[in-house]
Amino acid sequence: MIQDLTTEILRLKEEKDAVILAHYYQVPEVQEIADYVGDSYYLSKIAKDAKQNTIVFCGVRFMAESAKILSPNKTVLLPAAEAGCPMANMASASALLKMKEEYPNAKVVCYINSTTEVKAVSDVCCTSSNALNIINNIEEEEIIFLPDKNLGGHIQKLVPHKKMILWDGCCVTHNKIYKKQIEALKEFYPGAKVLVHPECTEEIRDMADFIGSTGEIIKFGTEDSSDKFIIVTEIGVLHELEKRNPNKKFYAPDNMVCPNMKKTGLEDVYNALKEMKNVITIDEDIRVKAYNALNNMHLLGR
Ligand code: 13P
Ligand code: SF4
Repeated sequence: MIQDLTTEILRLKEEKDAVILAHYYQVPEVQEIADYVGDSYYLSKIAKDAKQNTIVFCGVRFMAESAKILSPNKTVLLPAAEAGCPMANMASASALLKMKEEYPNAKVVCYINSTTEVKAVSDVCCTSSNALNIINNIEEEEIIFLPDKNLGGHIQKLVPHKKMILWDGCCVTHNKIYKKQIEALKEFYPGAKVLVHPECTEEIRDMADFIGSTGEIIKFGTEDSSDKFIIVTEIGVLHELEKRNPNKKFYAPDNMVCPNMKKTGLEDVYNALKEMKNVITIDEDIRVKAYNALNNMHLLGR
């Protein structure tokens, strides 16, 4: 069955001149069918420069929308149309505009995990892998950062000379991990290094041997000489970690699942391509404004 679907998807991909992108949190079979698998920043760069006419984005809505904002002439498909990111919905453009009035001198940096409307009223986007670089490359001292208070708090510690005004949003998946869970894993697997995504709370980040994006966690786990690691981010990353490192052991809290990232199956990819359905559309006025923030990310994040 999987083999039939895979063959059909590969055939349709050629027929429709499509490229398939998948985030590391996708289920293994979707990662395996993809042309490119990566973290948000890497996938955004691939989407921006793609040669194909169609981009099939296996991830959540803000990722597919970002691809459309950057490549307006391409058809962008989101195979699971209902896959959203709860954190992105924790910030609205109208509330952000009010905050901007309170801090007229601040630059607005929005995490790519945000709606197109929020991007349209922000100065620059960032992802977890380039946030530090971007904030360092902004001249202004005062920065409104949204929606993730955890990533924002992590960056604030690294740039104490800046004043970061943090939004009260978070990732429901990363925010629900408790110190006790990590302590229990550490006790069970003594000597294992703890690799943490910056969307986790401060008490979890404080337990980390390394903090980074999904791509950076995979790189660290691959290049570091230790043979066991506790992975504190969505369990989808275990697929690539285990594939690249068959002789190492990776352990993750078993409740680290993003239900939205798990909504895409091979059948959804097949149906989206076959019927060219779940097409991302964005009003041109707002797209142009949101493009500005995403383009600034690619300029400042280099
Ligand atoms: P990355 O930028 O590390 O891929 O993270 C995306 C995301 O949604 C994390 O929850
Ligand atoms: Fe959004 Fe969190 Fe899921 Fe990432 S893991 S897509 S931030 S809900």
